[in-house]
Amino acid sequence: MIVVTGATGTVGSKVVVGLRERGRSVRALVRAGSEGPAEWDEAVERVAADFADPASLDAALAGADTVYLLVAVHPEMAQHEKNVVDAAVRTGRRPRIVLHAAAGIEYRPEGVRFIGAHIAGLDHLKASGLPWTVLGPNGFYQNFLGTAPTVRAGHLAVPGGDGAVSYVDARDVAAAAVEVLATEGHEGAVYTLTGPAALTHGELAAQLATVAGHPIAYTALTPEVALEGLLGMGWERWRAEGMVELYGLYAAGRASAVSSDVEKLTGRPPRTFAEFAAEHAEAFRA
Ligand SMILES: NC(=O)c1ccc[n+]([C@@H]2O[C@H](COP(=O)([O-])OP(=O)(O)OC[C@H]3O[C@@H](n4cnc5c(N)ncnc54)[C@H](OP(=O)(O)O)[C@@H]3O)[C@@H](O)[C@H]2O)c1
Repeated sequence: MIVVTGATGTVGSKVVVGLRERGRSVRALVRAGSEGPAEWDEAVERVAADFADPASLDAALAGADTVYLLVAVHPEMAQHEKNVVDAAVRTGRRPRIVLHAAAGIEYRPEGVRFIGAHIAGLDHLKASGLPWTVLGPNGFYQNFLGTAPTVRAGHLAVPGGDGAVSYVDARDVAAAAVEVLATEGHEGAVYTLTGPAALTHGELAAQLATVAGHPIAYTALTPEVALEGLLGMGWERWRAEGMVELYGLYAAGRASAVSSDVEKLTGRPPRTFAEFAAEHAEAFRA
């Protein structure tokens, strides 16, 4: 039985569907009171648990053979990953853990708190002695839906400098995860999940303009202005600072490597940003 954590989110919800399509028995970790998305079939076992509550994780992981470990971005996210690993150890069954981390974990950049949290989680996982696999996706195309209001007004304003980023579609990340979860032979592997090309934010703005049918100017914000903007939008400081750190990595060109791992795992090339933008053209039109 495969336990999927983060199951109601962008990636996890699709992982659950993909595993059910492969006929696998799935237990989805949801929060108390949540039924999960309507797209899940009746056979998905829902179990209420919280990453901060070890007893609830014991119940959620009982009987697991494989665990998809995806935690949300949160100040305690490293501890949340450790809590799931510890609960997996307590099952006494040595379940295989597939850790959904982030691209960059393979070279351990310093000063990027989201990646730092995944590094701490991975080190704990390795020390646990459980069999492990790491998925390291780059930034998701889907993040651009969050910028849609400003894109509609003709601007893409982020602190990405002129660094290229090999963003990836979250659906391809989910498809790669399903393959790793449903098949054997991935122990000790670190898969870097990227789109098919690295594009600068200027190039991304140009692709959005093509589907939107109006000009979209890219403005490379300074980190200070970007932070102020995110705080002004109501972002919690820890998360806003983390996002600016991540864009610092992007601006430095350190998220530009293109990997063939999505195609190796899924048997088909990852979606292009142009395809994603065209599918969501309405969201970006004025
Ligand atoms: N976004 C990106 O561009 C990107 C790129 C690379 C890596 N990542 C990594 O991907 C992960 C986020 O993936 P995502 O975008 O699919 O996540 P998401 O959409 O934010 O979903 C997070 C999931 O975690 C659940 N959750 C949150 N807090 C919880 C708690 N205390 N106990 C139990 N469940 C909890 C949420 O449940 P509810 O629905 O109930 O809130 C939801 O199912 C992060 O680890 C991030 O570092 C993201």
